[in-house]
Amino acid sequence: MLATMAITPFASIGAFAQGGNADQLFEPIRTVLQHPRCQNCHIPGDAPLQYDSGREHAQFVQRGPRGKGAVAMECAACHHDENLPASYGAHAPPGAPNWQLPPPEAKMVFIGLSPRALCEAIKDKRVTRGRDLNAMLVHVRDDKLVGWGWNPGGERSVPPVSRPAFVTAFEQWLRAGAPCPT
Ligand code: HEC
Ligand code: HEC
Repeated sequence: MLATMAITPFASIGAFAQGGNADQLFEPIRTVLQHPRCQNCHIPGDAPLQYDSGREHAQFVQRGPRGKGAVAMECAACHHDENLPASYGAHAPPGAPNWQLPPPEAKMVFIGLSPRALCEAIKDKRVTRGRDLNAMLVHVRDDKLVGWGWNPGGERSVPPVSRPAFVTAFEQWLRAGAPCPT
């Protein structure tokens, strides 16, 4: 509740701003959402992806009816609430709370979209299961699964923009009225 109140001003200020520099405003956001650590779960298909190359997940892992994996192959069978200690090696399953894919009825696809299409997707409540951009700001700022992207364990790469810089970019974009690149 508090968090929501603290960020509502952006929505109203936003209406005054113009989206002339939409490309620059959206680019730091795009570069994170479409980084492998993020887009490997935000996919149109039903098998999560792995590595920077986005290869299909080993062992025929599937989205399943609620995004938590198929029966007897649930994500949580291998992925726990935290990364395993480094002693488990670079290819141990990474971990964060609620490790799963988005559910099949709202896949929230980030991968393979043009900057404009990605921007329009995250503003579309049918894509985000009814949540607005202020809720999304809270999610990218506070959610532990999102935070995992910057602490992925093993030798996995991290997005080129830090999490605080990403959050600041998101706020600036909202304040400008969330304009989409042309
Ligand atoms: C292990 C899979 C996984 C990874 C990795 C992942 N996400 Fe997600 N993401 C999800 C799931 C599942 C949801 C849907 C959560 C829900 O509906 O409650 C989601 C939802 C979102 C949303 C929408 C939130 C809203 O309020 O509409 C955003 C934005 C997002 N993720 C950003 C990211 C970013 C940024 C990263 C990388 C730093 C990332 N995700 C990495 C699984 C993942
Ligand atoms: C049988 C065990 C197992 C199951 C079940 C499993 N995973 Fe994995 N997953 C792994 C392992 C091990 C890795 C690390 C592979 C590596 O780094 O070589 C991994 C890596 C990943 C990655 C790659 C991270 C990256 O960016 O490179 C994602 C995303 C992922 N899993 C999502 C899921 C989701 C979502 C589910 C459920 C639908 C799931 N996994 C079920 C074992 C599993």
